[in-house]
Amino acid sequence: MSRAYKVAVVGATGAVGRQMVECLEERNFPVAELKPLASERSLGRTVSFRGEELPVEVLTRESFAGVDLALFSAGAAVSREYAPIAVQAGAVVVDNSSAWRMDPDIPLVVPEVNPGDIGLYQKTGIIANPNCSTIQMVVVLKPLHDAATIKRVVVSTYQAVSGTGQKAVEELADQVRALFNNQEVVTKVYPHRIAFNVLPHIDVFLENGYTKEEMKMVYETKKIMGDDRIEVSATTVRVPVFYGHSEALNIETERKLTPERARALLAEAPGVKVVDDPGKNRYPMPLEAAGQDLTLVGRIREDFTIPNGLNLWVVADNVRKGAATNAVQIAEILVRDYL
Ligand code: A2P
Repeated sequence: MSRAYKVAVVGATGAVGRQMVECLEERNFPVAELKPLASERSLGRTVSFRGEELPVEVLTRESFAGVDLALFSAGAAVSREYAPIAVQAGAVVVDNSSAWRMDPDIPLVVPEVNPGDIGLYQKTGIIANPNCSTIQMVVVLKPLHDAATIKRVVVSTYQAVSGTGQKAVEELADQVRALFNNQEVVTKVYPHRIAFNVLPHIDVFLENGYTKEEMKMVYETKKIMGDDRIEVSATTVRVPVFYGHSEALNIETERKLTPERARALLAEAPGVKVVDDPGKNRYPMPLEAAGQDLTLVGRIREDFTIPNGLNLWVVADNVRKGAATNAVQIAEILVRDYL
């Protein structure tokens, strides 16, 4: 791999975009030139990359001249408008928004689960990066599904504010500070105070009573796992944690999977780390998952209320594996096998 690439990061000043830039550097991605793009609000700001301060440029239709690879994380509206423009200019797009995820012509990829789907990008020039809560769930489901065929998953999430973006990280910090200083608490990003509260509400409510985030977990899981028969029932919840999503999974399989066997399969699974020693108070937590790329799984135990059931607790850094790292891993396969 001797070639190096001109890489644009759209949304480079955001929570995920900044992490994308960090991941490119950390993982020594072959970047010849980095182009950080954001809105005019970011004019004058810089992004550090390999010891240099690169000026942020305003995203325009002309931004993609000569760009080989464009990583997008600036929301679905920006992706819908600019991803086709980037492709037209000759770039391959890895898109972290929800804009293209369910398009049948566009691959939706978690490298530990369905790396082979990446090749489908040749049809449109776009690869979609899944939703953060779906990514960490399917990394764990995949080895269990291969061994025992998953019929149904009931998942409840405990999602960090960084999943909403940088403004939500600041809102939680500001609210905590205000509360401790007896000042007025300002609520802008969420409909309610998030500090010391729990909101069973992520993304918009749909007519069926679920939120869009919950339905993303249903549809994206089927697409990534390549199996429409896997049923997912989700409740997605925002909690006052800065980084790291947690998930309680209840899984029903066709064939029996003991907790011991599940633990052994997960210990061998790529991208997964088993943290499961309750006697020593060892179980996955956001504070432990934050800042690294493994998906942690623990509290692996039998669900005694059904013949073939397991309960698991899964935690990962939502900004890294749930977004930026997954996108850069896709880009690594892209340059290794296709570009
Ligand atoms: P900006 O900071 O200039 O608004 P987050 O998810 O943390 O909120 O970050 C969103 C990212 O997407 C930011 O980098 C933001 O840039 C960028 N962004 C949002 N809207 C646009 C837009 N219309 N054009 C370009 N970048 C955008």
